Amino acid sequence: MSEVSPVKVTVRPNGPLRVEGPIVLTDADGKEWDLTGKPAVSLCRCGASEKRPFCDGSHNRVGFQCAASPAGNLT
Ligand code: FES
Repeated sequence: MSEVSPVKVTVRPNGPLRVEGPIVLTDADGKEWDLTGKPAVSLCRCGASEKRPFCDGSHNRVGFQCAASPAGNLT
């Protein structure tokens, strides 16, 4: 039996959440986005994307500012 790698989520400074690994992404009604062939997705964190829940780069246009790692809570 092979070991499954954990899903990795990276908080991008002033940008999206980068999610790498096999996930199921649904809306509030449980409808799934088809992520076939996508080993990773970037999820919008700024709220400005026209393709939510995915990042479309609009965080740059709106000047979204949010540090990736607030001091003091990382190991
Ligand atoms: S984080 Fe990139 S468009 Fe919102």
